[in-house]
Amino acid sequence: MAASKIKTIGVMTSGGDAPGMNAAIRAVVRKGLVNGVKVKGIKKGYAGLLNEEIVDMEKKDVSDTIQRGGTILGTARCPEFKEEEVQKKAAEICRNYGIDGIVVIGGDGSYRGAQALSRHGINTIGIPGTIDLDIACTDYTIGFDTAVNTAMQAIDKVRDTSSSHERCSIIEVMGRNAGYIALWCGVANGAEDILLPEKYDFNEQLIINSIINNRKRGKTHHIIINAEGIGHSTSMARRIEAATGIETRATILGYMQRGGSPTCKDRFYASMMGAYAADLLCDGKSNRVVGFMHGEFCDFDIEEALSMEKGISEYQYQVSKDLSL
Ligand code: ADP
Ligand code: F6P
Repeated sequence: MAASKIKTIGVMTSGGDAPGMNAAIRAVVRKGLVNGVKVKGIKKGYAGLLNEEIVDMEKKDVSDTIQRGGTILGTARCPEFKEEEVQKKAAEICRNYGIDGIVVIGGDGSYRGAQALSRHGINTIGIPGTIDLDIACTDYTIGFDTAVNTAMQAIDKVRDTSSSHERCSIIEVMGRNAGYIALWCGVANGAEDILLPEKYDFNEQLIINSIINNRKRGKTHHIIINAEGIGHSTSMARRIEAATGIETRATILGYMQRGGSPTCKDRFYASMMGAYAADLLCDGKSNRVVGFMHGEFCDFDIEEALSMEKGISEYQYQVSKDLSL
C-alpha cells in the first residue's frame, strides 16, 4: 500500500451489539497498525465520541478478544446525533484528537451518522454489524450466523418439551422489521409455520387449521417461528389455544440471540471486513460501506447502499413452506 496521508484512524461500534464485533475491531486495529497509522478506540458509539471517551489502541489491546461476544468498546444509541450542530461538534472532537477517519461497525442508522461525519470532513467507512441481516448492500452481516445458531439450539430444546407435552409452541425470534432470523431458524428447525413480517397476511385461521390437521395426522408438536416484527406471540398463543383446544405456549428468545462467542463464520467475515475497512481509510476513501456480495468483499457509497432494497427471496420462502408440510 502507498504511504498514507491518513495518520490516525478511529474505530467504534454503534447501535445493537452483535457477536463478531470484537473480531472486526481487532482487524481494524491490527490492519491499521500494519498500514503504519495510529489507531484510537472510540467507546460507546457516537455518545462516547461526544463525551470524548477515546483511547489509544495497540496490538495487545485486542489480544484475547476475537472469541468474545459483545463489544469491548461498548455501544450505544445516541438520538441527538441526528442534529447538525451535534455532528459538527463530533467532527471538531475528531480533529482535536487528530483522527482523520473512523470505521463505524453497526447497521443502517450508524451509517447515517457516518455519512454526517464525512460531510463534516472526517473520512468514514461503515461495516455491517447486526444480527438482523437487514442491510441491503451485503449478503452477510456480522453476528447473524451466531444469532441463528444460538436461536436454532434454543428452539430444538423448546421442541423437546413441546413434543413431550403434546403442545403447540410459538417461538419469537429477533430481527426488528426483518424476517431473516425467523426464515433461517424456521427452515433449520423444521418449523410447521414460519411467520415473517415481509409475508404474513395475519390469517390466523390458516394456522389454526394447520395445527388441527397436523394433530389429526398424529403430530405431537407444532412449532411456529414468529418474527419480532410481527410480535404479539403471547396473545397469539392464547387465541390459538382457545380455538384449537391444544395447550399453546409462547417463548420469546430475546437478548440471548445477541450474545455468546461468535461462530467461525462471524469471526472470519468480521476479520476480513475490518481489514478491508482499514485499507479503504488508509487509501483516503470516505463515505463507503463494506459488503460481501457474489463471493467477494466489496464497498459502496453510503448513499447508494442506503437506497438499496432487500427482501425475502421468493424461492427460499416457497421452499420453507413446501418443507413444512
Ligand atoms: P443501527 O446502526 O443498528 O441501525 P440505530 O438505528 O439505533 O442502530 O442507529 C445507531 C445510531 O446511529 C443512533 O443511535 C444515532 O446515534 C446514529 N444515527 C441513526 N440515524 C441517524 C441519522 N439519521 N443521522 C445521524 N445519526 C444517526
Ligand atoms: O438490531 C438488533 C436488534 O437486536 C433487533 O433484532 C432488535 O429489534 C433490536 O436490536 C433491539 O434493540 P434494543 O437493544 O435497543 O432493545
